[in-house]
Amino acid sequence: MASTFGAAQVLVASNRGPVSYEVREDGSLHAKRGGGGLVSGLSAIGPDAGALWVCSALSDGDREAVRRGVGEDGVRMLDVPADVHADAYNGIANSVLWFVHHMLYQTPLEPVFDAEFRRQWASYEAYNRAFAEALAEEAAEGAVAIVQDYHLTLVPGMLRELRPDLRIGHFSHTPWAPVDYFRMLPDDIAEQVLRGMLGADRLGFLTRRWADAFTACCEALVGGTGGTEIGVHGLGADADFLRKRSHEADVDERMAALRAEIGEGRRTIVRVDRTELSKNIVRGLLAYRRLLTDRPEWRERVVHVAFAYPSRQDLAVYRDYTAEVQRVAESINVEFGTPGWTPVVLHVKDDFARSLAAYRLADVALVNPIRDGMNLVAKEVPVVSDEGCVLVLSREAGAYEELGEDALVVNPYDVSGTARALHEALSVGAGERAERSKRLAAAGTALPPARWFLEQLDALRS
Ligand code: F6P
Repeated sequence: MASTFGAAQVLVASNRGPVSYEVREDGSLHAKRGGGGLVSGLSAIGPDAGALWVCSALSDGDREAVRRGVGEDGVRMLDVPADVHADAYNGIANSVLWFVHHMLYQTPLEPVFDAEFRRQWASYEAYNRAFAEALAEEAAEGAVAIVQDYHLTLVPGMLRELRPDLRIGHFSHTPWAPVDYFRMLPDDIAEQVLRGMLGADRLGFLTRRWADAFTACCEALVGGTGGTEIGVHGLGADADFLRKRSHEADVDERMAALRAEIGEGRRTIVRVDRTELSKNIVRGLLAYRRLLTDRPEWRERVVHVAFAYPSRQDLAVYRDYTAEVQRVAESINVEFGTPGWTPVVLHVKDDFARSLAAYRLADVALVNPIRDGMNLVAKEVPVVSDEGCVLVLSREAGAYEELGEDALVVNPYDVSGTARALHEALSVGAGERAERSKRLAAAGTALPPARWFLEQLDALRS
């Protein structure tokens, strides 16, 4: 794959990259380019200026592309053995580290640190080493490398040893666990994670709260953060992109289809999530059921449009959660539905154009995670909604720091409180709704992705 042979001036490393490949029936490879903050951030610099993205080959198509030496300029995919990747990604990153930072372990769902965990941890180390070695190989003298997320916490320390000349950053897109929760990890593992990250010159977090939690963990477990600088960069929504994309023809088509599902003259409560436990989709549905029970005046007058896109389906705990979401949505439709009204319109097939269509139709956006690094949906819906929306927002989402003042804030565990907030949100008049939405959109787009990335780059270079 595209290699810069030691010439890259700016490097990004992440598990999931900006492009993925599919093998077509005729054997040809089809590339699909993803969106998202990092993609637009890095394209602000581009491969001509020596920018390189190191990521993992995740699909069969990706692995085939590596084998055939097919690739995009500015992207190098690592074909780590599939079992090593599965241990690191499914076993450690998404079963342990994700659960610790989102505080998802609750009896009887508890971590197990047995021999199998140790075996998977060795794969996590190998996976991190593969990234560190690739970055060391590709980076020019004195280059900047910014490593992303909980999949790659050991990379900064490993890379520092291989290439002391580099400026190394790491950015966490998740929350960081409070110290009493973080030290649920075995002592040596907790220490290894912290020391791995502290190998960086600079660590970035989405909010002050997560940055402070990390610092507290370092103070309690490894005697402080040493010389590593800690920065906060609250990634915002990309207003220009969203406004343009949400008015393209495919979005209009999906709006027409959604309108038909919702029915004439009804209010719309919208949520869009990857289906995983921290998003708290089931409690959101239960809050909607409570609304329909306690406030029968909303029956037939409101529809909950819930998009729950399957994620990490190799793991039983995520599959079971996806099934639970479908079961609860269906039970609400059975309990309350009438011939002309389906109370919950649930879609599980990922479709970005349809998500934007739902954003445009939203009167209320429901964002109620148990914990979330930021939650960009909370920032995106107010930008896109045609008539302005009221945001019902969990106080445990990173976005709360910037949007809390203009949102209706809920405790994500409190189903009755969330139901009351939904009632209040549906009752807000058009004028106030438009005003609130405008302020939410302004706050949520204050740091667009390209600037978010360049800001970190500048901080690392100075
Ligand atoms: O929130 C952390 C994060 O890594 C995000 O950066 C990303 O959008 C999401 O999780 C995706 O998870 P996965 O790659 O497992 O689908």
